[in-house]
Amino acid sequence: MIGTARNGLEVSISGLGCKVPDRVVTNDELRQYVDTTDEWIRERTGIRERRMATQEEALSDISLPACRDALAQAGLEGKDIDLIIVATVTPDMMFPSTAAILADALGATDAAAYDLSAGCTGFMYALAQAYGMLAGGLSKRALVVGGDPLSKILDWEDRSTLVLFGDGAGAVVMEVGPEKGFIGFELGADGGGGASLWLPGSGSRHFDDPDGYVKMNGREVFKFATRVLVQSAQDLLESCGMTIDDVDLYIPHQANVRIIDHATRKLGVPSERVVINVDRYGNTSSGSIPLALADAASDGRLKPGQLVLMTGMGAGLTWGSALIRWTKEMAA
Ligand code: ACO
Repeated sequence: MIGTARNGLEVSISGLGCKVPDRVVTNDELRQYVDTTDEWIRERTGIRERRMATQEEALSDISLPACRDALAQAGLEGKDIDLIIVATVTPDMMFPSTAAILADALGATDAAAYDLSAGCTGFMYALAQAYGMLAGGLSKRALVVGGDPLSKILDWEDRSTLVLFGDGAGAVVMEVGPEKGFIGFELGADGGGGASLWLPGSGSRHFDDPDGYVKMNGREVFKFATRVLVQSAQDLLESCGMTIDDVDLYIPHQANVRIIDHATRKLGVPSERVVINVDRYGNTSSGSIPLALADAASDGRLKPGQLVLMTGMGAGLTWGSALIRWTKEMAA
């Protein structure tokens, strides 16, 4: 699916917030659980440390402060929001949705609220859905959350996945007008590659002895990721009549610094325009892109007028890009 934001009302982001759990887990700490080294993890992934939720912390606990910050920045309260979408593969539970739990906690009594599952691409899918509802006039102010305490579904004895992921969440407020923030989207899915990254036994399909942990074919996901990050961004830029030289800030999904470097090189983005925080947070799945946006805001790189290109990819297999003009002055 590809499209430019030409036909509906103008939509932009007016608030941004993020939250990671307090607990820092270094590469060295993971050596207690699996046969690995700090050197291997840094060389193959660029990750130095990640945050991990406690046993008591669920997605809604991590997301709530991010939502409150995003609302405060937009100058809004929960009751002003009429749509909440939470992109995640680790909701508090299958139902009620984490979006409904957050709506209740925020006092968003008039909001439609639901969760969306598109792996690590979830935040990009959720932005596109919210954009569609706002541009079409169905919603006026939406809260879009991306977050995953992915540590909850990791096998702490599997070194091929344990070292890659971390926990975190981010949220944005999206509003109708007056400025044109969203410019276009490109979204896709290849279900044929689903078994490269999956959670057997997590739904209605029967599996013998499912252990409830993420399974991944790292090499296949690596090949897929390097291909779609480039292709999706190029297709979207072309359909919007822009080139990579127009992009001020490139925010790729934070899965692995080698994947990011490959995409950056192929696309021809100067390194100072690329946001990277996978070294501090690992792969936070649906939280990755909003966390990177918030990082760019806090270090002063995200400014009004800038063209921001975001591309995610993940389980499904799925991918998605969005091109936005940043319109909001961010508090330091
Ligand atoms: N520590 C030490 N050694 C390890 C570890 C580890 N944590 N994990 C694997 N190894 C070993 C392997 O067993 C293998 O050993 P062998 O040669 O004796 O068989 C060796 O290291 C090399 O393994 P490879 O899998 O070939 O290593 P590779 O260079 O491909 O890196 C990695 C593995 C980092 C997983 C890489 O394939 C990758 O990044 N893939 C993409 C993963 C990803 O991004 N997933 C999520 C994307 S979607 C989403 O975000 C949900």
